[in-house]
Amino acid sequence: MAEALNRDTGQSKPRKMKYRKAKASWNPAMQAIPVSGIRRLVNMASNMKDVIHLSIGQPDLPTPKHIIDAYVDALNAGQTGYTMDAGLPELLVALRDYYGRRYNRKLTRDNILITSGATEALYLAISATSAPGRQFLVTDPSFLLYAPLIRMNGGEVKYIPTRAENNHQLDPDEVIRAMGSRTFALILNNPNNPTGAVYPRSTVETILEECAYRGIQVYADEVYDHMVFDDDDFASVLNCSMDLDNIMCISSFSKTYSMAGLRVGWVISSQAAIKSLRRYHMFTTSVANTPAQFAGVAALTADQKCVNDMVDIYRERRDKIVELIDQTPHMTGYKPGGAFYAFPNLPPHVDGSDLALRMLKETGVCAVPGDAFGDNCTNALRFSFATSVEKMEEAFDRIIPWMAKQQF
Ligand SMILES: Cc1ncc(COP(=O)(O)O)c(C=O)c1O
Repeated sequence: MAEALNRDTGQSKPRKMKYRKAKASWNPAMQAIPVSGIRRLVNMASNMKDVIHLSIGQPDLPTPKHIIDAYVDALNAGQTGYTMDAGLPELLVALRDYYGRRYNRKLTRDNILITSGATEALYLAISATSAPGRQFLVTDPSFLLYAPLIRMNGGEVKYIPTRAENNHQLDPDEVIRAMGSRTFALILNNPNNPTGAVYPRSTVETILEECAYRGIQVYADEVYDHMVFDDDDFASVLNCSMDLDNIMCISSFSKTYSMAGLRVGWVISSQAAIKSLRRYHMFTTSVANTPAQFAGVAALTADQKCVNDMVDIYRERRDKIVELIDQTPHMTGYKPGGAFYAFPNLPPHVDGSDLALRMLKETGVCAVPGDAFGDNCTNALRFSFATSVEKMEEAFDRIIPWMAKQQF
């Protein structure tokens, strides 16, 4: 068959393909990653004017100056290379000493792995252990990373509902009743995002004791462990457990020191677990940001007054948002004891997602619907109080009359 010639060049034309080009094909595990309910709203808000955000989960308070200085000093001193795979030795020592003081827990450097934020720590811990046949207990509602990470790796999620009428506290008996022969692990996020619940020592101890007895792994996400407003005693798994054999405690600098963008977190566990996670860490991010790790050393070793001052500010805001929610028609709140979120209920059967969307369009206030955090609280909204009292007052000046007009 004669070849077709290009009229302009006289060259032969490439033959037409008879078949379609194969589309890029994702690993089916990607289906476990949902479209984030938070991003959807925030993207819409980014195209609107005069929006007040009560949606975002990161501190608005500035990073303390001595931490920034330590970061810049590290850069100027040429600290721009890789650190050791487990983390900057000075930071491992600072964390060991800090946790020794704070939770009276004797650790060695080999109990700690430095990661790129708590997000990487969670990724490593969960994806290194989730597998078909393994069931993970997770509260509903919960921080949106856990369930997809479990499912992506073949594990099964079993939800334990928490309820607004009980201030979203965990009932230890309910948790124990949920444990079965397939239960491999429990994720314990204390203080909790999105509910702001802080679990008391009796709850944490009872759950940990049962997990240790049954050989169930506990992944404790304690990134908000300083944001506790009413209790002097915070029940970290690090001072509620006999040993670290079945415990991974995950935290970071993001919330406590307003360092979310500097991306340094850690996992604390048994030396054997850290050894395995270190190998995996080498295949993910290798090491965390080096100057940010120097900034972390400064954060831990300097006076902690900056943290106490920030917590005082968050407490004042917590009190204000509780008051504002109480004044809002059709919203039932409670007093969150920690983190920086309030999670009030709307009347049953109200679709929080639909309401959040209309609230954004009609009042310009952006809140996150409960269904971003699970199936159990679709009639709830999450308000972040990582914003000033003035902004919250302005937001509720819009929300209150608007809610009064709603007919549910
Ligand atoms: C409960 C919880 N865990 C982990 C993270 C992630 O923290 P990091 O910035 O350290 O990755 C967040 C951030 O919002 C969070 O709310």
